[in-house]
Amino acid sequence: MWSTAASACDGSTACPVKCWSLKLRMYCHYRAGSGNIAASPDPAWKKQGVDMQPSALVLALLLASASSVGLPAAPKRIVLPENVMPEHYDLSIVPNAPAMTFTGSVMIVIDVKAPTTQLVLNAIDLVFGRVRLSGVAAAPTVSFDSEEQTATLTFAAPVTAGQHTLAIEYVGKINQNAAGLFAVDYDTPSGKQRALFTQFENSDARRFVPCWDEPARKATFALTATVPANGMALSNTPIANTEKLPDGLSRVHFVSSPRMSSYLLFFGFGDFERISRTVDGVDVGVVVKRGDIDKAYYALDAASKLLPYYEDYFAAKYALPKLDLIAGPGESQFFGAMENWGAIFYFERYLLIDPRISTQADERSVYLVIAHEMSHQWFGDLVTMEWWDDLWLNEGFASWMEFKATDYFHPEWKPWLAALDSKEGAMSVDARNGTHPIIQPIHDVLQANEAFDTITYSKGQAVIRMLEDYLGAEVFRAGVRAYMKANAYQNTATDDFWRELEAASRIPVTGVAHDFTLQAGIPLIRVAASGGRLRLTQERFAADESGKAPITWRVPVIEMHSGAAAPWHGLVSRDRAATVAMAAAAVPIVNSAQTGYFRTHYDSATMARIVTDFRTLSTADQLGLLNDSRALGLSGAEPLGDFLDLTSQAASDLDPLVLRTIATQLQGLNFLYEGLPGQASFKAYCRRVLNPVLATTGWNKRPGESQNVTLLRYEVLSALSTCDDTVVIGEVQSRFIAYLKEPASLSGDFRHNVLTIVAAHADAANWDQLRSLAIAAKSAMEQSQLYALLGAAHDSDLARRALELSLAVEVPLTTRPTIVSTVARNYAEMAVDFVATHSDAMDKLIEPASRPSFLPSLAGNSRDLATITKLRAYAARHIPENARGDAAKAEAAITYNAKVRTERLPEVDRWLARQKAQ
Ligand code: BES
Ligand code: ZN
Repeated sequence: MWSTAASACDGSTACPVKCWSLKLRMYCHYRAGSGNIAASPDPAWKKQGVDMQPSALVLALLLASASSVGLPAAPKRIVLPENVMPEHYDLSIVPNAPAMTFTGSVMIVIDVKAPTTQLVLNAIDLVFGRVRLSGVAAAPTVSFDSEEQTATLTFAAPVTAGQHTLAIEYVGKINQNAAGLFAVDYDTPSGKQRALFTQFENSDARRFVPCWDEPARKATFALTATVPANGMALSNTPIANTEKLPDGLSRVHFVSSPRMSSYLLFFGFGDFERISRTVDGVDVGVVVKRGDIDKAYYALDAASKLLPYYEDYFAAKYALPKLDLIAGPGESQFFGAMENWGAIFYFERYLLIDPRISTQADERSVYLVIAHEMSHQWFGDLVTMEWWDDLWLNEGFASWMEFKATDYFHPEWKPWLAALDSKEGAMSVDARNGTHPIIQPIHDVLQANEAFDTITYSKGQAVIRMLEDYLGAEVFRAGVRAYMKANAYQNTATDDFWRELEAASRIPVTGVAHDFTLQAGIPLIRVAASGGRLRLTQERFAADESGKAPITWRVPVIEMHSGAAAPWHGLVSRDRAATVAMAAAAVPIVNSAQTGYFRTHYDSATMARIVTDFRTLSTADQLGLLNDSRALGLSGAEPLGDFLDLTSQAASDLDPLVLRTIATQLQGLNFLYEGLPGQASFKAYCRRVLNPVLATTGWNKRPGESQNVTLLRYEVLSALSTCDDTVVIGEVQSRFIAYLKEPASLSGDFRHNVLTIVAAHADAANWDQLRSLAIAAKSAMEQSQLYALLGAAHDSDLARRALELSLAVEVPLTTRPTIVSTVARNYAEMAVDFVATHSDAMDKLIEPASRPSFLPSLAGNSRDLATITKLRAYAARHIPENARGDAAKAEAAITYNAKVRTERLPEVDRWLARQKAQ
């Protein structure tokens, strides 16, 4: 999952206090195997045929990269025997929400491939009653394996090959967090309410129904639910009919689903309202808890436009008669939204816009999340990866598509420039120990959980972006369309995708694609200019010793220099340097437009000329230069002065996005400076750079101003307050006091900005005021936002109080761990100690999928090597050996933070001293 280790506020991303999405800490600004792969058949590779088997070299790399993070050699993949395939599930459930249990009864039509005495399927936390197989008189004996999460049915005589119906009656649990069927309680004017939802990805359908819970075992599902007649029941498909039952109950029958993976099944029930619109014959709806309809229109508008856009892009009609976007209160440490086919679930803050409290950043985040989940209705739901090894086919693609679609509808937001932040987030992880290739062997459920991380999402997104650019957008789309057509309702491995792209483009893209998806790490293109020629060579960029092993990539490079008629394109690799002719006086930009996934290192004379010409470059290239020089500077590969020289060029003629990035990067450096003697001078520099920017944005929104300026204003205020600008902090305080007297004095947008800054600088009185606001909050969404802010105080006593609050009944259950995460951004060690001490209580608050990564996510914010000892001790006690990938990433993040402080910041001190002297 989102290795929060990646979210350490090292300036590659926004400081996490503003980050909302879990997978995407790096969008903060805008929203806020098998060890025997070769020897034994392995479904993901098998499908690719002999020719497509990964080469010995690639396998060696996969295994080497696993051992470099201290993971044990990958054991055999835990999958169900292949002798039985499910075809159809008739599932009937009766929730007992007050008792937090449900009864289920399922009839599964199965195809038995060869006679067998055993049927093995997935089930966890289910108690079986009657079990029967059609045509077999005697009931089987049933045994459970809680480790492998299976039930084995053993029959006295072999079950014949062919079709059978397996009937199981059972009882299950309703959980308090998002795993399987779960309940969320919330307050309403007429008392407490309980809503029910399901969350199955990656492997929790087995908590709801005994099933073949693997993505490649696609089947049709017909769900029936017996529920109180006064609520709304939801599933993937429309309701076929409803029977009235005695005692105020209804039995709701849903239309049978198309062939799909079990992780996409959905059920929801509660006191809901729905708004809808018919788009291209599809009933598009937004479902909210009663009273929230006004907050749903933004999402309905977005979804109504995105549906035809995707139908066109994929050249495939949306497959179901209806599409609901469903908002549920609460939150999860693991995910924000889930693409269940026809019934996309969102925790409220990712779907609803409440003008009273939502910000411009929220509008963007909601838009991107809707675009992401809707793209999965095709890429993921209609065509699904065969196994979790290829999870990136879902998540990398959807993360790319969300920018693509948003760019179409909101070009003024410049989404592709925002996507550069996502790429930076990926690179910060990919440059360190603990990284892994985009495609990696996944052996069990725990490892599948870990795969939902920055590499899968953000590196995946960036690599697709690069390949789209390499092939051309039209040709790329033709390949996607052919892939959809060839694989609808089926499963695929990544090479199926490359094959379609090659067929459509006639460009041999598979080699380049393999280099970037089967190998971890970041290429570095070194640029040396001499005698009117540029020489481009490929090395590896890393921020620690992970970079010692050289890797060869075929890197698609675009170079543009002043005076050139057209850009130069070419593949550069370790064994194939490139030479580009260029007038001696010209200024070159490599990775022009920044669509490549690599870092660029210019020789120092060329760099000096680029710094001089900085203001004349395109916005994308200015951002690329800031990002590369920052990363190279912090790793020690280049003088940090180059980066600082660029930041000192902040002025009103630059694009708001460039200024915002400078503000973010300065905050990131300040985070690394925390407590060091040079911090005061650094903060003074930060104020000197950013006050003129604030002077141009002003404090108040101007009529007609672009949204990027609004977002810049917030970033600059946030950075200035972080850098102790007393004027800014004073003004924010007085606006807060006015707000307490008169809530209408702040717009919904500015309110959150003010509250965030007040929370960071809170004294005890402010903290109590914020807490009173949280207690009195008018909605679940507002309440969780306010409680999270209580963890943001820089004051250590208040941080401690926030940690204590995270165990208090006052706070909604699922918000409690969020408070701890917020505290960890300033006080990682304190949060780590707290969670280690209260591990049982904390484990109850977070879903099983989040447990191995929760404490590492806190620790990754630390700048203190001592935290590594604590992290290791915790991991040894609480994290299964095969789920320590996030711990490894967190360790690498801490080591990096500590190293930058001792080895790199003194250079910043010297640069600042020189500035003063001038
Ligand atoms: N498929 C994921 C949700 C998910 C992630 C389920 C991990 C189970 C485990 C969904 O498409 C997703 O990526 N959600 C993101 C939001 C998105 C905009 C990146 C999330 O929940 O953070
Ligand atoms: Zn996704």
